[in-house]
Amino acid sequence: MGLGTWQSPEDECFNAVYTALSAGYRHIDTARVYQNEEAVGRAIAKYLKDFDISRDEIFITTKLWCTEVENPKKALQNSLKRLGLEYVDLYLMHWPVTMKSSFDGDLIPTREDGKTDVVPFDEWNYVKTYNLMQELKIEGLTKAIGISNFNIPKIEYLLSQPEIKITPACNQVEIHPYLPQDDLIKYCKSKGILVECYSPLGSTGAPVLKDDKLIKIAEKHNVSTACIAISWAISRDTVVLPKSVHNERIESNLKIIQLSNEDIEIINSISKTSTKRIVNPSWGVDIYGPNPKL
Ligand code: A2P
Repeated sequence: MGLGTWQSPEDECFNAVYTALSAGYRHIDTARVYQNEEAVGRAIAKYLKDFDISRDEIFITTKLWCTEVENPKKALQNSLKRLGLEYVDLYLMHWPVTMKSSFDGDLIPTREDGKTDVVPFDEWNYVKTYNLMQELKIEGLTKAIGISNFNIPKIEYLLSQPEIKITPACNQVEIHPYLPQDDLIKYCKSKGILVECYSPLGSTGAPVLKDDKLIKIAEKHNVSTACIAISWAISRDTVVLPKSVHNERIESNLKIIQLSNEDIEIINSISKTSTKRIVNPSWGVDIYGPNPKL
């Protein structure tokens, strides 16, 4: 279980991370593109100092952004500088997508026609990126490397390349009761890849928490609906990364309960009638399609 920080603005993020660590979280998830690494780093430094905790007791993840994939070492060194850390615990390729290379331009560069400036697969791709990321683990800038937003065909393609020697430690993807991703979880487990769930509450406005079935189970156990969504993710042996910038939610989201088999079956049935993917960027790339070379 870790604190998600996507859409946590710089000013609120400092408080969220400090509150989370003080409440007992040991895992914080950020990314270059969230533009809050400095706030995350300041909160970590203050927490470690205030509570006399050593760095190796906490687990920090950041992610390589699509415009910086041609030089992951420089990208990670910049992230480490912003975070004020000597290493991260996990460095993820944020998307299996390459955008026009730039370290100081737009994070989502556009062409003249207004479309996202995505680099074709043959010119650069996630295999080349991951190949370079392997060096970062060897050099000790990160304890582990992994991927994010990869589907089965892309993982299969990546793992089949001879230069790929280090199996991704994890694949961080959108998972919640409306998008349970059973096949992807099963596949990742078979390859020894841990699955991390982002947007476990459905992201902005937490739409998952409005689900009648989840609300009923929460009432039965006398806990919050968020607790049910989070406990369901834990029951599946996945890492879960709920985001909040409110102290009481950050603290209460730590509560995990043991769900009964009956509860789990009910939650598993939610996606049979209603499936929803929330995060699907309009970059003109078929991110979730069957062709790995896109
Ligand atoms: P906020 O940050 O204002 O507290 P996800 O983890 O799926 O990305 O969901 C994040 C959304 O869920 C945010 O809008 C966050 O709001 C909200 N949220 C997080 N925890 C809770 C909770 N316990 N109850 C209600 N909403 C929550």
